[in-house]
Amino acid sequence: MDRKRLLAEAAKARENSYCPHSGFAVGAALLCKDGAIYRGCNVENASYGVTNCAERTALFSAVANGRGRGDFAAIAVVGGPKDGELVPCPPCGVCRQALAEFADAETFLVLWSTDGNSYEEHTLAELLPYGFSL
Ligand code: THU
Repeated sequence: MDRKRLLAEAAKARENSYCPHSGFAVGAALLCKDGAIYRGCNVENASYGVTNCAERTALFSAVANGRGRGDFAAIAVVGGPKDGELVPCPPCGVCRQALAEFADAETFLVLWSTDGNSYEEHTLAELLPYGFSL
């Protein structure tokens, strides 16, 4: 897996962030086991709770394009103030649970970076211990 490429894809996705309410722009790139990548950005709304995070945008895009359980290998996330420096951006709890629906938590990798070069990386199981499933 080319982690730097995945981080670069997340940075590309971030360029499309719609974040007029928080001013915090996030991009995510979701990697499939076959090498396909789905991008997502946060999409905000005047009714704040309607906002969709970048990670779920990427995940829902993948699912809407025919991907499903077991297809996913990793997700990279980058975020920060719209016109400022990147800050560490691990996925929120809702996105962790959304990813857990479709990924093998023991092997699925989650990474984030503030420079597109060095990164922090954890399995989804580390980030979502005792996640709920049916
Ligand atoms: N956000 C994401 O897109 N992903 C995260 O992991 C954390 C937060 C978005 C939601 C909202 O548009 C903005 O960042 C500030 O919370």
